[in-house]
Amino acid sequence: MSIATAREMMLEAAEGKYAVGAFNITNLIQMEAVVEAAIEKKAPLIIQASVTPSQFLGQDVLVAIYRTLAESAPIPISLHLDHSTSVDYCKKCADAGYTNIMIDASKQAYEENIRQTKEVVDYCHALGGISVEGELGTVSGVEDQVKVAEDEAQLCSPQQAVDFVERTGVDIFAPAIGTAHGVYKTKNPKVDFERLGKINQMLNGDGIKTPLVVHGGTGLSKEYAIKLVAMGGAKFNVSTELKYALIDATYNYISANRDQYNPGKIDVAVKDAIRQSVSKWIDILGSAGKA
Ligand code: 13P
Repeated sequence: MSIATAREMMLEAAEGKYAVGAFNITNLIQMEAVVEAAIEKKAPLIIQASVTPSQFLGQDVLVAIYRTLAESAPIPISLHLDHSTSVDYCKKCADAGYTNIMIDASKQAYEENIRQTKEVVDYCHALGGISVEGELGTVSGVEDQVKVAEDEAQLCSPQQAVDFVERTGVDIFAPAIGTAHGVYKTKNPKVDFERLGKINQMLNGDGIKTPLVVHGGTGLSKEYAIKLVAMGGAKFNVSTELKYALIDATYNYISANRDQYNPGKIDVAVKDAIRQSVSKWIDILGSAGKA
């Protein structure tokens, strides 16, 4: 329980055919809300911070709060650095105490992606207690500093996925399969479920070795999410929805109570909104009661 790597939880999730919810936070109220929702649901949890919020809050502060929350929680919780394109920053967060690190060298040429990902894997494995996520192909949309235009997005080749995982030694793997960061422009985005299933079969067909990550959760329907889990997704990322929840709850509270100056009440409104969103996803992903 408590402090855990993402990989440990995902091995169990892949075995049990559910996915661990991985929720991006940008401030400490969101972080507490995400933890409270997961505890309520008795679900394993991955807290994610992209580079900008991680640097803004300070990685040591984030880790201190993560440890305080996780050590007293009756569920396993991982703290994940999301989409770092800098090997040095990955190492800094690994040193600080994050338990899952994502090096996103997916925009680099293939061999350079392998080189950078392997460097982070070797570093984190030498430290111990940290799993590493790598990405192949590119996920369109915007997540913090990583921006990929729709017509530049490239899906992950299953053959290359096997080579990439073998040569880098990544613990968990994010193949680009057509999901996107941000809000989808259509109700039924083109997601290549079969590709995910094929990659899962090739990597994990003889027993789960490298569990798979699904990016771009915001805006996907329940049916899509369930199908992605059935095809092998064992970690499911949600970011934009929680940013909307934070801003909308703040706006709505202030609009309805323009004459009040009680910040605690805004925090309560934000927490409620985040908790609701996280609880909904935990139910969809099937991770309730799995901690
Ligand atoms: P969304 O912002 O689309 O939910 O994507 C989240 C994500 O994949 C973070 O890495």
